[in-house]
This record gives sequence, C-alpha cells and structure tokens, in this order.
Amino acid sequence: MKTIRFGIIGCGLMGREFASAAARWCHLPEMDARPEIVAVCDANESVLDWYTDNFQTISLATGDYKQLLASDNIDAVYVAVPHNLHQQVYCDTIAAGKHLMGEKPFGIDKPANDAILAAIAQHPDVFVRCSSEFPFCPGVQRIGRMIDAGAFGRVIEFNGFFRHSSDLDPDKAINWKRMIDKNGEYGCMGDLGMHVCHIPFRAGWLPRNVRAVLSNIMTTRPDKSGKRVPCETWDNATLLCEAADGDGNLFPMTLKTQRIAPGETNSWSLEIKGTTACARFSTKNPRRLEILEYDGGEQVWGQIDTGHETAFKSITGGIFEFGFSDSILQMWAAFIHELSTGSAPSTFAACATPQETAWSHTLFTAALESQANQTVVELELT
Ligand SMILES: NC(=O)c1ccc[n+]([C@@H]2O[C@H](COP(=O)([O-])OP(=O)(O)OC[C@H]3O[C@@H](n4cnc5c(N)ncnc54)[C@H](O)[C@@H]3O)[C@@H](O)[C@H]2O)c1
Repeated sequence: MKTIRFGIIGCGLMGREFASAAARWCHLPEMDARPEIVAVCDANESVLDWYTDNFQTISLATGDYKQLLASDNIDAVYVAVPHNLHQQVYCDTIAAGKHLMGEKPFGIDKPANDAILAAIAQHPDVFVRCSSEFPFCPGVQRIGRMIDAGAFGRVIEFNGFFRHSSDLDPDKAINWKRMIDKNGEYGCMGDLGMHVCHIPFRAGWLPRNVRAVLSNIMTTRPDKSGKRVPCETWDNATLLCEAADGDGNLFPMTLKTQRIAPGETNSWSLEIKGTTACARFSTKNPRRLEILEYDGGEQVWGQIDTGHETAFKSITGGIFEFGFSDSILQMWAAFIHELSTGSAPSTFAACATPQETAWSHTLFTAALESQANQTVVELELT
C-alpha cells in the first residue's frame, strides 16, 4: 500500500480529528494508499504532546510551520488554523510543493480566497481540496446518486441548514471564532457556510442572486478574565437565493447558517423538493433518510434507515449507525483516493474543490452587501 506522509499545521480540534482518522485507517479495507502523520506544528506547542504520545511515526514537532514545510519528508499537509492565517499558510504550503487539505472557509475573505486560487493555478501538480465531511453521511451519498440519476425531475426548491445552539448561552466565553479579525466579516457564514454549499454546488445548482438577513444576537461575551467585550461577528445568516439548475431552470434556494438555533447541537440538514422525488436528511438522526417518489400515484414520505453503507468500504457492519468521526474518515478516504488515483469514485464521494470555495466566497461577499444595503445582489458564478 502506498504511504502518503502528512504534516499537520494547526493541531487543535480538527487536527486531532484527522490524526485519529489516520490512526484507524485499517477500518477501510479497500484503500490502496494510507496517510502517515510524520510532522505536527502548532503555535501553542503544548498541544503537540497528545500527537507525539500517540503517534510513533512523528519525527518533527514544531511551533514554526515554515520548518515543517521545509521538510523533504512530507508529501501532503492538512492545515487547520484560524481563518486569518489561511491565505499565508495555504499559499506557503502550495509553494512548497505539498498537497493540501485546507479547512473552510479557505481564506478569511474573497481577496484571501482569490490569492489561494492564484497560488494553486501556479502549481498545477499540487492536489488541493477543502474539508467538508457531511456529504459522506450514507443518506447524503444516496441523495447524491439520486441527483446524478436525475431522480428529482425539475427542482422545485433546495433548503440547506447548519445549526448550532451553544451560543444561546450569553456567558459562553468569546474565542477566535467570534472575533472579526480572526474569524472574518462573514461570521457564521465563514464557519458554517461551505458545509451548506457543498451539495448544491456539486449538483451544479448555483445561486444567481441573494437576499441575506444576518443577525448579531449576542453583542458582548465574557473574555478569559470574565470581563464583557464586544462580540461583533454575525451569529445567524439566512440567504434566500434564486438558483438555476444545469438547464437554466430557476428555483428558490435557502441556506441557513446559525450559531443560535435553540435545541440544535451540530445539525447539518438538507431538503430537496423536485417534481418526481423529494428527499430530506439531517445529522440529528443520521441513519434516517426520508424520500418521497412521485409517479402520478400517492405522494407518500418513506423513511429508510441507511446504516453504514459508505462510499469507501468500511469494516463496520452494514446495520451499524454512522457518526461524525465516520464522516471525517470517509472524507479523508476521498482525499487520499483522489490524490493517489487521480479521480473520485463518484460525483459526491469527493472533497470540496477550490472552485467550490471560490463560489462560496462570491456568495458570502454578496450576502454581506445585501445585508448592508438591504438589497438583492446579483451573482455570476461560472
Ligand atoms: N470541517 C469541520 O467540521 C470543521 C469544524 C471546526 C473547525 N473547522 C475549521 O478548522 C480550522 C481550525 O479550527 P479548529 O476548530 O480546529 O480551531 P482550534 O482553535 O481548535 O485549532 C486551531 C489551532 O491552530 C493553532 N495555530 C494558531 N496560529 C498558528 C500558527 N501560526 N501556526 C500553527 N498553528 C497555529 C492554534 O494554536 C490552535 O491549536 C478553521 O478553519 C475552522 O473553520 C472545520
């Protein structure tokens, strides 16, 4: 089996998820390549002990990402750092000739995203993708196959949601994800937006215009010392778009990203209504896929328990349920598979592309303009 030697830059929440996925690669019996974590970097070096304690393969643990990028011992890098660092670290990684899995939003704003895409264009040999794991849930993979087969007929509407609720607590301490200088002007859209865009963008359903309503509900939060400080990022965003399918047929698309959605923990969900089929899926109940198929007879919503039918074969029994860490493992399988073979097994068993991140930036930038001027903003996504 081919080994792809990985460095991780940014060893917080998401860095650990990747390392753990790499540690259980034996879960995927049909892969012809595997990741090996050989180097880790974090500005806070105290977080590196967990890695060096658990991974004998690590030969470099550093606080300086340029030292990691200078190593000839590394083929690919996962970068999971705050958004204000995406442009610099992604561009440096690409310039160093390392394959890159970057985290969303793939640049703190559109100019940063433009710079990252320009760096990719200058280094066509480097394979670059953006992390987005929810499409790998089995129910969503089935929906993807339905989209590929044209099962929905003409799309009537698409709704995509990503909702959290812990920010409902006004005393939750502020962190970098609630600070404009580190998280960006997009606020919740930068954090959650690529996740809701991935499926419609991959389907070729692209917004032509947007009217956004953005809310900053908690305007202050305690800092580490308990003093209340301004919290200026957008908590919630509702984007109502007019979208077009590949044939130019128009339909409404609503994308909601909310940090303050009472009762929701990390609920990623989507709903597609079409003239010949409809589908609903939510990670709230990750086994459950709801489908309505219409051929002129009764219109009946059916419920399917999908179990563990994964895009990349897993050793887990088919009846067992699928969870967040499984979706991370499947997403990494998609990255490694495409890097190693040059193609994805199907349209939706693939990671988000840099082009898809660029479309998301155009949309979120237009959403900020729409909110500021209370207008509908036209988009040209090509
Ligand atoms: N795909 C997902 O589901 C998902 C979930 C959460 C976060 N994210 C994304 O992952 C990225 C990181 O988020 P997180 O939740 O892991 O954050 P985190 O705060 O847990 O980790 C970020 C790490 O980066 C480190 N860091 C900061 N500056 C650095 C530098 N100059 N060099 C090296 N390391 C540095 C920090 O010390 C921290 O350990 C963000 O882009 C975020 O949007 C993705």
